[in-house]
Amino acid sequence: AATLKESYDGLFRIGVALNQRQFEERDQRALKIVAAEFNSISPENALKWESVHPRPAEYRFDAADRYVAFGEKQGMQVIGHALVWHNQTPSWVFQDERGAPLTRDALLARMREHIHTVVGRYKGRIAGWDVVNEALDEDGTLRKSPWQRIIGDDYIEQAFAFAREADPSAELYYNDYSIEREAKRAGAVRLMQRLLARGVKITAIGLQGHDHLRYPSGAQQEATIRAFASLGLQVNITELDIDPLPRIADEVTAEVTLSAAATDALNPYRSGLPDAKQRELAEKYGELFAIFAKYRGTIGRVTFWGVTDGDSWLNDWPVRGRTSYPLLFDRAGARKPAYDEVLAVA
Ligand code: XIL
Repeated sequence: AATLKESYDGLFRIGVALNQRQFEERDQRALKIVAAEFNSISPENALKWESVHPRPAEYRFDAADRYVAFGEKQGMQVIGHALVWHNQTPSWVFQDERGAPLTRDALLARMREHIHTVVGRYKGRIAGWDVVNEALDEDGTLRKSPWQRIIGDDYIEQAFAFAREADPSAELYYNDYSIEREAKRAGAVRLMQRLLARGVKITAIGLQGHDHLRYPSGAQQEATIRAFASLGLQVNITELDIDPLPRIADEVTAEVTLSAAATDALNPYRSGLPDAKQRELAEKYGELFAIFAKYRGTIGRVTFWGVTDGDSWLNDWPVRGRTSYPLLFDRAGARKPAYDEVLAVA
């Protein structure tokens, strides 16, 4: 078959995250690729709290409405991302009018109102929601986010209950990164077990899949899929990219301004990815897709976090001004060797 979605038809959906220019059809190059290759879309930013609910009494749905309308027009599965998260959530969410921390009951009421408003608006139109995003720390314990500190550990099941009330037929997901690492995976398994034991409706775990050339290993990827399948959950790969640039120390973040020399050292392929790295990237994609294909039935979709390399958030993260090459289409929209490799697996 000629395209990704055709090749993987019957295995799982092939999704992609769209930015605003793309779902508003102002990026013709991306539009052609999206229409031909993908059958599921995620909003890169348009449905995050700061985008749809910037101030206490103000919802802004113009961009999100266009995102959903675009997906319907294209006949895509339309995904919602993300309801409860610690990032891209304004600080007023956790404070009262005078700037004092909210009580548990007040924050729960605010969470419920937000989820009901946003999920309710797209009831029957958004197929599934990332209800809670990134609630776990690397060691597998719950992250001490404002949600956890103010409400307590049960904020997660409360969020799922509100989403279920708002759209009883939507799929509901828990989404996180680095779940393929043993400690965090064990924590995610415990969290899912606890939610399931308490009767929480949860359809799937989302593995973000912000990968690189040495992570996850095939063994880690496979062990992770199996761990959640054995709990009866579906597994989706929700934000896939494979960063072929050298790893950056954890303490270097987007907030740190590096010297020009340090940025250069972290960004050695400004004028193009060398052929050998291009090959390695293709092989890593092939290895992971062979595993995804083996677990068809468990995997509902594999979603790429961006259309072309130029669109990728990895050009700005974890330091600004990188030039990365993590996706299947280059900056001109041409298919890369990694594309052929993924196609060849199906
Ligand atoms: C990223 C977007 O791609 C960027 O445009 C934005 O500036 C920051 O967020 N995990 C997630 C996604 O769940 O929402 C993030 O998306 C990438 C990491």
